[in-house]
Amino acid sequence: MQTVSRTIRRQCRPTSLQFSRYSHSLDSQQPKATLPNSEPKTTSFGFKTVPEEIKETLVKNVFDSVASKYDLMNDATSFGVHRLWKDSFVSSLRPGRKGPMKCIDVAGGTGDIALRILDYARENYYDRETTVEVVDINAQMLKEGYRRFKQTMYHNTPQISFHEANAQSLGPEKFKDNTYDLYTIAFGIRNCTSIPDVLKEAYRVLKPGGTFACLEFSRVDNPLLNAFVSMLRAPSSQLTWVFRLYDQYSFTVIPLLGTVLAGDRESYQYLVESIRKFPPQPEFAQMIRDAGFSTGKDVDGGAWTNQWGGIACIHTGVKV
Ligand SMILES: C[S@@+](CC[C@H](N)C(=O)[O-])C[C@H]1O[C@@H](n2cnc3c(N)ncnc32)[C@H](O)[C@@H]1O
Repeated sequence: MQTVSRTIRRQCRPTSLQFSRYSHSLDSQQPKATLPNSEPKTTSFGFKTVPEEIKETLVKNVFDSVASKYDLMNDATSFGVHRLWKDSFVSSLRPGRKGPMKCIDVAGGTGDIALRILDYARENYYDRETTVEVVDINAQMLKEGYRRFKQTMYHNTPQISFHEANAQSLGPEKFKDNTYDLYTIAFGIRNCTSIPDVLKEAYRVLKPGGTFACLEFSRVDNPLLNAFVSMLRAPSSQLTWVFRLYDQYSFTVIPLLGTVLAGDRESYQYLVESIRKFPPQPEFAQMIRDAGFSTGKDVDGGAWTNQWGGIACIHTGVKV
């Protein structure tokens, strides 16, 4: 497999970065290089099936590759709609409403959510004490985030810091139990090998009463849209071409934009495929409850809030 061999070549590259004051340090984590001799457990990497042990490295390579063009590509492929979803994600959480908060934004990438949290708290509650720790497995993405924050008033303040770590095992020394008021993860959890492990870590680091909040691509869950989609799926339907058009956009145009704008088709192919593999709303809500969180009922507006009929979705849970 081309991607797997690329991974093995990249495993030798150093990933450590050092930043300045206020813990802008990235703790280096070398990807696991060994494959077990016995039958390996497998998982999905987009539509491919790969040994669990190498998924992390494959995902890391995807984001190494897209990091410098990530923000541009997000705007190009979603026509800027990801900004609206992120705005609505953060404003639904109202950071700063009850006073300054200690937040952790996991799989935080280039800091889109962190910046919105700090801006929201400041603009709505004159809060300059809320803090966000941005955590990501990928040093290149964090480096872009750090560079971006340099242009903001938060740079070189205790309000923002960047940390290289795996969402599945943040590490109890650095990320202590019962520490954060708010845990956010946006468009990140579907890239992780074990969702239950991510949720378990989220539960561990949150204070009792703290909020887990996830923004992720999901399933269209709107009766009208569903009826429309069923109609499109009917082989005899005159409208099948519209459904095909949507698939064509996802599976052709996005990887094509990846090739043209970022010089990387494979990574964008993976990103599109991974969206289709993520569990639907009720299944993911149950996983959140299984990790110990309390959620609302299994309806839109309860355990989750759909964005654009479920194309993206906000799930929340409270640590009890
Ligand atoms: C699609 S980007 C989202 C970035 C940002 N949250 C946003 O909404 O723009 C996904 C991010 O998840 C990170 N990621 C993937 N697997 C991870 C893991 N196991 N632990 C921590 N971060 C991970 C990637 O490096 C990447 O930065």
